[in-house]
Amino acid sequence: MVSQVSYLATLVLLLSVSLASSSSIEENFIQCLSFHSDKAAPFYPSIYTPKNASFNNILNSTAQNLRLLVPSAPKPEFIFTPLTDSHVQVAVICSKKLGIHMRVRSGGHDYEGLSYVSEIEAPFIIIDLVKLCGVDINIDDKSAWIQAGATIGEVYYKIYEKSAIHAFPAGLCTSLGVGGHITGGAYGSMMRKYGLGADNVLDARIIDANGNILDKEAMGEDLFWAIRGGGGASFGIILWWKIKLVLVPEVVTVFTVTKTIEQGATKVLQRWQEVAPYIDDALFIRVIIQPASVANKTERTITTSYNAQFLGGADRLLQVMNESFPELGLTRKDCLETSWIKSVLYIAGYPNNTPPEILLEGKPTFKNYFKAKSDFVREPIPETGLQGLWQRLLEEDSPLMIWNPYGGMMSKFSESDIPFPHRNGTLYKIQYLTLWQDGDKNATKHVEWIRNLYNYMTPFVSKSPREAYVNYRDLDIGMNKKNSTNYIEATTWGNMYFKDNFNRLVKIKTKVDPENLFRHEQSIPPLPVSHMRLRDKKFKTLE
Ligand SMILES: Cc1cc2nc3c(=O)[nH]c(=O)nc-3n(C[C@H](O)[C@H](O)[C@H](O)COP(=O)(O)OP(=O)(O)OC[C@H]3O[C@@H](n4cnc5c(N)ncnc54)[C@H](O)[C@@H]3O)c2cc1C
Ligand SMILES: *[C@@H]1O[C@H](CO)[C@@H](O)[C@H](O)[C@H]1NC(C)=O
Ligand SMILES: *[C@@H]1O[C@H](CO)[C@@H](O)[C@H](O)[C@H]1NC(C)=O
Ligand SMILES: *[C@@H]1O[C@H](CO)[C@@H](O)[C@H](O)[C@H]1NC(C)=O
Ligand SMILES: *[C@@H]1O[C@H](CO)[C@@H](O)[C@H](O)[C@H]1NC(C)=O
Ligand SMILES: *[C@@H]1O[C@H](CO)[C@@H](O)[C@H](O)[C@H]1NC(C)=O
Ligand SMILES: *[C@@H]1O[C@H](CO)[C@@H](O)[C@H](O)[C@H]1NC(C)=O
Ligand SMILES: *[C@@H]1O[C@H](CO)[C@@H](O)[C@H](O)[C@H]1NC(C)=O
Repeated sequence: MVSQVSYLATLVLLLSVSLASSSSIEENFIQCLSFHSDKAAPFYPSIYTPKNASFNNILNSTAQNLRLLVPSAPKPEFIFTPLTDSHVQVAVICSKKLGIHMRVRSGGHDYEGLSYVSEIEAPFIIIDLVKLCGVDINIDDKSAWIQAGATIGEVYYKIYEKSAIHAFPAGLCTSLGVGGHITGGAYGSMMRKYGLGADNVLDARIIDANGNILDKEAMGEDLFWAIRGGGGASFGIILWWKIKLVLVPEVVTVFTVTKTIEQGATKVLQRWQEVAPYIDDALFIRVIIQPASVANKTERTITTSYNAQFLGGADRLLQVMNESFPELGLTRKDCLETSWIKSVLYIAGYPNNTPPEILLEGKPTFKNYFKAKSDFVREPIPETGLQGLWQRLLEEDSPLMIWNPYGGMMSKFSESDIPFPHRNGTLYKIQYLTLWQDGDKNATKHVEWIRNLYNYMTPFVSKSPREAYVNYRDLDIGMNKKNSTNYIEATTWGNMYFKDNFNRLVKIKTKVDPENLFRHEQSIPPLPVSHMRLRDKKFKTLE
C-alpha cells in the first residue's frame, strides 16, 4: 500500500514538473512510462542520461566495436535498461507515441554498432536488454526458453548444469546476446551437424510495432519466419526464444594445428577447400588465417590455424582425418578429448582449465577497433588467388580471416526455409577483419585496406548476388548510409544478405510495420507505396 501511494505521489510530481517546464525527451519518456507501466516494478532507477556518472560505463559495457565508441560517434539521449518484459513493451509504446527513435541492444556485438549508435537519426535512445537474461531449461522435452539479454554462453552453461549430453548449436563467441544473434542466423561449431541457431527455434515472444506481445501462434507464419534470420531490429523486439536442444556425446575432441607458408600452408588450404565441406557432419574444421612473425626473420609469414571440434572421441576422429584429410597430418597428441562444455571454452579461445562458470560472467573476450566483411565461396580458390591474398594480408597491421566450412546439415535446408539463404552449394564462408588499437587516427587507412581486399576477392567468391552474412553487418555494401531505408538502394544489400528471401521480408515488413517504427541503417524497408501514403507523416524516408 505504502509503495503504491508513494508511486502515485511520484507520478503526480513528475507530471506536474513536466507540465510546468518545457520537458526534455527523458522527462517525456519517463512520464509516458509512468502512465503505461504496471506499478509493480520501478523503472526510474534504470534510466541513464549523460549526466549520470555511470552513463559511459553502461554505454560501453557490452559494446564490442570500439570504432563506434569514439567521442565523435553519436550518443544516445539516454539508455533504458528494462527490468521486465512489460517495461520493454511500454518503452516501445512510448517511443512510438513520442516519436523518439530507438535502438535495441541485447549483447552489443553488432559489427557496425547499430544497437548503440544511430547515424541516420538524432536524437535516439537505447533500450538495453542486458538485465533480461532468464534461461529456463527443460531437459524432458529438449527445449528451453531463453531471454533476449542472456548471452549464448549463459545458455550453454545452464544446459550443461542440467545435462552433459544436451547442447544448442549457436555462436562460438560466448558473449553474444541471443536477442541479436539468433535473429541473423547464429552459426557455430555444430552447424554442419545441426544447422544454425535460427534453424532450431521452436517459438518466440516478440513485441510488435503496436506494442503487442506475440508468440508464434499470435504472430503467424510470416512474421515467425522473418524473425529467424531476417536480421535484428526490423520486425519488433524479441523478448524470448524457445529453442530446441540437441544431443551431443559425452566425449568430444578438439584440436588446433597450425601451418605456416613455409610448412606448406597454401597446399593444405587448397585441400581443405575440397574436403572440409564434405567431411563427416560431426567434424567442423575452421581456419584462422593471419600474419605472424617468424623467429630470426624480419619479414612476416602467414599462419593458417585449423581449429576444430569433433562430436566424438579421438580414435574415430583420427580415422576420419586419415581417410579424408591426411594432408593436415593430425596426430593423436594434437587431439584433446573433453566434454562439450569445455570444447565451447576451447573454441572460444579461453585458456585450458578455465572453469565453465566463466560463462556466467558474460564478459567479452574481444574488444577492438575493427572493420569486417564477409563472403561465401562456391568454388575452391586457386593457388594464384591464395598467393595474392597472402600478399595483401602481409601489407596490413593486424588483419585476420576466418574460414568457416559449410555442408552437412547446412545443405539440407532449402534457401527459403528461413530468411538465411546461404545453403547447398556453399563451400565455406570467409570473414575478413582488420583490427587496430589506436583510436580513429588511422581508421580510414584500415577501412580502405579491407575495401581493397574485398575488391580483390571479387572473382573468387559468390556472384549475382555476391552473398554476405547479415550478422556480419557491413554498411559499405550496396548503399549510401544516408539513404538506407530507401527501398531501391536496400535491394542491393537485401539481395546479398537474403537472396530471393528479401522480397518476402519486405512484404512482411510492410504488413507488420508499415510506418517503419523499427528502423536502422540496414533495416528491412516497407514497400515504397506505403511510404508514399505516409508522406506527410513522421516516418518519411523516401523522397
Ligand atoms: C566477437 C564476435 C564474435 C562473433 N561470433 C559469431 C559466431 O560465432 N556466430 C555468429 O553467427 N555470429 C557471430 N558474431 C556476429 C553476431 O552474431 C552478431 O553481431 C549479432 O547480431 C550479435 O547479437 P547481439 O545481441 O550480441 O548484438 P546487438 O548489437 O545487441 O544486436 C545486433 C542487432 O540486433 C538488434 N537486436 C538486438 N537485440 C534485439 C532483440 N531483442 N530483438 C530484435 N532485434 C535485436 C540490434 O538492434 C542490432 O541491430 C560475432 C560477433 C562478434 C563481435
Ligand atoms: C541518474 O541521475 C538522476 C538524477 O541525479 C537520478 O535520479 C537517477 O537515479 C540516476 N539514475 C541512475 C540509474 O543512477
Ligand atoms: C568508453 O569507450 C570509449 C572508447 O573506447 C572511451 O573513450 C571511454 O573512455 C570509455 N568510457 C568508459 C567509462 O569506459
Ligand atoms: C634464432 O637465432 C638464435 C641466435 O642466433 C639461435 O640460437 C636460434 O636457434 C635461432 N632460431 C631459429 C628458429 O632459427
Ligand atoms: C590410414 O589409412 C590407410 C589406408 O587409407 C591405412 O593403411 C592406415 O593404416 C591408416 N592409418 C591410421 C593411423 O589409421
Ligand atoms: C546439393 O546440390 C547438389 C548439386 O548442386 C545435389 O547433387 C545435392 O543433392 C544437393 N544436396 C542436398 C542435400 O540437397
Ligand atoms: C598511422 O599511419 C601512419 C602511416 O602509415 C604511420 O606512420 C603512423 O605510425 C600510424 N600511427 C599509428 C598511431 O599507428
Ligand atoms: C538520397 O536519395 C534521394 C532520392 O532517392 C536523393 O535525392 C538524395 O540526393 C540522396 N541523398 C544522398 C545523400 O545521396
